[in-house]
Amino acid sequence: DKYMEFDIGELPPGEVMQISWHGVPLFIRRLTKEEMEDEGKTPPHTLMDTSHQVRITDAPNSKVMVLNARCTHLGCIPIPYIGKYKGWTCMCHGSIFDKWGRVRQGPALENLRYQNHSLYGNILCVDQ
Ligand code: FES
Repeated sequence: DKYMEFDIGELPPGEVMQISWHGVPLFIRRLTKEEMEDEGKTPPHTLMDTSHQVRITDAPNSKVMVLNARCTHLGCIPIPYIGKYKGWTCMCHGSIFDKWGRVRQGPALENLRYQNHSLYGNILCVDQ
C-alpha cells in the first residue's frame, strides 16, 4: 500500500532530484564516475558518524543513492550542491553533508538516512 514507482531516467550523473513518497521527502543522487571512486578515499577518521555504511545501488551505466531528505538535526530539507563538500547544506542551523550524505559539520550528528528501495532499470520502487 505504500508502494510507489518513480522514473529516474532523466536524472543526469552528478545531479540530485527530490521526490515525495507519501509525504516523505527523498533525495535521489546519481553519482558521476569520479564520485564513485572518491567515496572510498575519505579517511574514516575524518567522518563524524561512522555508524552507517554508504549504500549505493547499481543503475544503468551509473549508480544512485536514495536518501531521506530530512536533516538529521531538526528535520529541515538541506540544499544540494553547496557547501564545502558540494553535497548538501542545511540552511536552518548550518549542518553540512557530503555527496554521500555523510555529516561533515554539525549541529547534526548523524548522516542523512538511507531509504530502502529497489531499482529496475531506471524505475525506482519504494515501499518501506
Ligand atoms: Fe538542519 Fe538544524 S535542521 S541544521
